[in-house]
Amino acid sequence: MFYRTILSGCGAYLPERIVTNKELSKTLETSDEWIQQRTGICERRIADNNELTSNLAVNAARNALENSGVSVSEIDLIVLATATPDKTFPATATKVQADLGIFHGAAFDIQAVCTGFIYALNVADNFIKLGQARNALVIGAETFSRILDWKDRRTCVLFGDGAGAVVLSAAEKGDKRGILSTHIRSDGRHQDLLHVDGGPSSTMTVGYLRMEGREVFKHAVTNMSAILLEALAENKLEANDIDWLVPHQANKRILDSTAKKIGLPAEKVVLTVDRHANTSAASIPLALSEAAGDGRIKQNDLVVLEAMGGGFTWGAAVIRW
Ligand code: UT7
Repeated sequence: MFYRTILSGCGAYLPERIVTNKELSKTLETSDEWIQQRTGICERRIADNNELTSNLAVNAARNALENSGVSVSEIDLIVLATATPDKTFPATATKVQADLGIFHGAAFDIQAVCTGFIYALNVADNFIKLGQARNALVIGAETFSRILDWKDRRTCVLFGDGAGAVVLSAAEKGDKRGILSTHIRSDGRHQDLLHVDGGPSSTMTVGYLRMEGREVFKHAVTNMSAILLEALAENKLEANDIDWLVPHQANKRILDSTAKKIGLPAEKVVLTVDRHANTSAASIPLALSEAAGDGRIKQNDLVVLEAMGGGFTWGAAVIRW
């Protein structure tokens, strides 16, 4: 039996504390003007010390469940994309599963950094297509504030904390909506351009995020526009068929350049980087949740997701809403 996967609902959670560029400029040699001009970021959310990735994920998951009409007992798979797990093990997804009161099915983490949500969507979609799960929670949740070197102005101003989630369900027969295709890629030759300089097996420390921003920028535009065109072609679609592009939110200039490269008007790109900064695996479900919640994304719209992150990893998904 081969099922199609539909998105039954989206949810989001952002920590309360807002940190503006101006606040950062009090302790760093930076300015609101530099950050806005180079990235489009105005502010970001930062989690409290006692707020863990799993807490953010559970809040986003509850919100997605409320919006989906699917009950918690019907969830038989949780796939959590994160590069900032609560602990080295067990998977943060199992903590989320326990906190939601789910004691059946399976829960595991996926690590593809900023492309994590697309990877998680790909995996959960395949579970549902094959009939191995009926209703899945796919979550992107991050506390990047914990792995930032707050003295490095080249990286620490760029990221924020947050979580987003979607509920995926097996579609009723004949429903033409849902995930049309997902596409994931990686190329490990570039891992030093964006990485964390610690880890249990290498340094026995957590480490800090390090990035060659300008190099990553170039690869991001090239890889994201290429996979986007590939994803459209596979579905016999063109850029002007897209109603909403929901990209990973790293830098407004990357979003503008990618949209321009494929000939998509900027008004069709959902933008949250101004308020959330780069929340890694959480950025796409946060943006999706916002655009679906405020009525921009409507039933039957063609929604395309795309991301690029450390590894390098990159990917895209095409969805009929
Ligand atoms: O989510 C995964 C994917 N990540 C990304 O896609 C990020 C991709 N990269 C970028 O978004 C951009 O490359 C950055 C926003 C990281 C940097 O922008 P840029 O235009 O590439 O700047 P740059 O790194 O070339 O730096 C230009 C100047 C440098 O000064 P000098 O050497 O020209 O004197 C930096 O030291 O800006 C300086 N600079 C800053 N100045 C004020 C770097 N960071 C800051 C800062 N405030 N926060």
